[in-house]
Amino acid sequence: MKVLVATQKPFAAVAVKGIKDILEAAGHEVTVFEKYAEQSDLVAAVADAEAMIIRSDKVTAEVIAAAPKLKIVVRAGAGYDNVDLAAASARGVVVMNTPGQNSNAVAELAIAMMIFMARTQFTPATGSEVQGKRLGVQAYGNVGRLVGAKARALGMEVSALDPFLSDEQIIAGGADPVHSVEELYACSDYLSIHIPALPATIKSIGYDLITRMPKGATLVNTARKEVIDEDGLMRALEERPDLKYVTDVMPDNYAALQEKFGLRVFATPKKMGAQTSEANVNAGLAAARQIVDYFATGNVRFQVNK
Ligand code: 3PG
Repeated sequence: MKVLVATQKPFAAVAVKGIKDILEAAGHEVTVFEKYAEQSDLVAAVADAEAMIIRSDKVTAEVIAAAPKLKIVVRAGAGYDNVDLAAASARGVVVMNTPGQNSNAVAELAIAMMIFMARTQFTPATGSEVQGKRLGVQAYGNVGRLVGAKARALGMEVSALDPFLSDEQIIAGGADPVHSVEELYACSDYLSIHIPALPATIKSIGYDLITRMPKGATLVNTARKEVIDEDGLMRALEERPDLKYVTDVMPDNYAALQEKFGLRVFATPKKMGAQTSEANVNAGLAAARQIVDYFATGNVRFQVNK
């Protein structure tokens, strides 16, 4: 089968080699299509593809229509909001993700971002310590649990909210369960967001929630920019000069936020949470193995459009 590795943000070279080795050993033909400039380039590149490995690359209805032989798309990573699942399903294209494979990299970045903000973006200004502070984790999945564990090692208290877990499961995962998003924000000196972008979560974090946070709190977003109501964030930061926002998913209004709030806000220039060679190897090789397995045995364990 013809497998297209379409990554606008490339994998580390060691991961690309590993992906090729796995697919070619199983008799597949691999084309690597990296750092493309325009979405139209991706549309043009998929004409022959029977399988795709992607990252945050946008597999839209147009891409699927331009790939008449496409049978499977594997998102090497967790979030699949970049794939038009309805268009894929309508064409019988299987979509999978590789849950958990890049989680540690994202969790390490979330912790780094907290300390970066606690130390006023590594400027000489007097900062604060995270030890003894309370971290709220919004969604205690693969990434959230790792953030919680690392925060505990730093001497933080951890609270978590997750609608899919019982109190017992959250306690077993080392956190104090809370039962509403309002309660979570109200108790969190640091709040780390790990929810997916879904119709129900888009713009769900705004003025009301953010202003519930305690004095001096920091909101950390390594998830998706879409879950933030940016106007609400702006208002909250205006009204509460003690609050900070740090993110790996740059808000559309970042220039305005920076101008108004200076060192109280920070966004990475490009999403880098999963950008470690370890995460690239874990997620990329898992994606390659899932494709090999799918064509060999029909295994759809990680399918997300069932
Ligand atoms: C994910 O959903 O897995 C992360 O957001 C990583 O995305 P990336 O592969 O584009 O870095």
